[in-house]
Amino acid sequence: MKTLIVYASKNGASAEACEMLRERLSSFSEVDVCDVHSSLPSPDGYDVLVVGGSIRMNKLSRALKKYISANAKTISSMPSAAFICCGLTDDFDDYVTTEIPRSAKFSLGVHCFGGQLKPERAKGLDKPIIFMMRQSILTQDPDKSDGERRELPELFPDTIYALAEKIKQTRRV
Ligand SMILES: Cc1cc2nc3c(=O)[nH]c(=O)nc-3n(C[C@H](O)[C@H](O)[C@H](O)COP(=O)(O)O)c2cc1C
Repeated sequence: MKTLIVYASKNGASAEACEMLRERLSSFSEVDVCDVHSSLPSPDGYDVLVVGGSIRMNKLSRALKKYISANAKTISSMPSAAFICCGLTDDFDDYVTTEIPRSAKFSLGVHCFGGQLKPERAKGLDKPIIFMMRQSILTQDPDKSDGERRELPELFPDTIYALAEKIKQTRRV
C-alpha cells in the first residue's frame, strides 16, 4: 500500500511527528512525506492520505488549508486523517473547529500530535515568542487547580502510533 503525508512545519515539530509516523508505517506501507510548500503529488495515486501541521497565532498554515480544500473530494472518498501540532494542546478542539476546512471528511479522524516549545530550534522572531509561551506556562499562578494548569507540550508518540495502527487496519486482505 502507499501512504502520502503532507505537512506544514515551521520549527520542526510537525516534521518530527511525520517522521515518527513514517517510521511506523514503513513496515507495511510505502510512505511519501512531503512539505506542503514543495511540489506535491496528486493524492489519487495513494491508498491513504495524512495531512497536518502546526498552529501559529491560532491559525493552521494557509497553504495546508488550501491543499485540504482543493483536495476535499478525494480526501473524503479515501482513508484519510488530519493532525495538528500546537503549543497549547488544551485548545486542540477549538483549532479543529476553526481551522480544519469542513469540506473535507477525514475517515481516520483528526488527531492532536502534541507540540513543542523549544526556543533553541526556532529562528528570528519565533525564538522570543516561543520563549514567552514557555514562560507563561512555567510561571502559572500556583493556586490554579490541576484542571486549569497548562503543561509544557511534548509530541504524543502514543497518538502518532495509534494512527499508524489505524492505517494498518485499512489494508485490503
Ligand atoms: C509565532 C508562533 C505562534 C504560535 N501560536 C500558537 C497558538 O496560537 N496556539 C498554540 O497552541 N500554539 C502556538 N504556537 C506553538 C506551536 O504551535 C508549537 O510550537 C508547534 O509545536 C510548532 O510546530 P512546528 O515546529 O511544526 O511549526 C506558536 C508558535 C510560534 C512560534
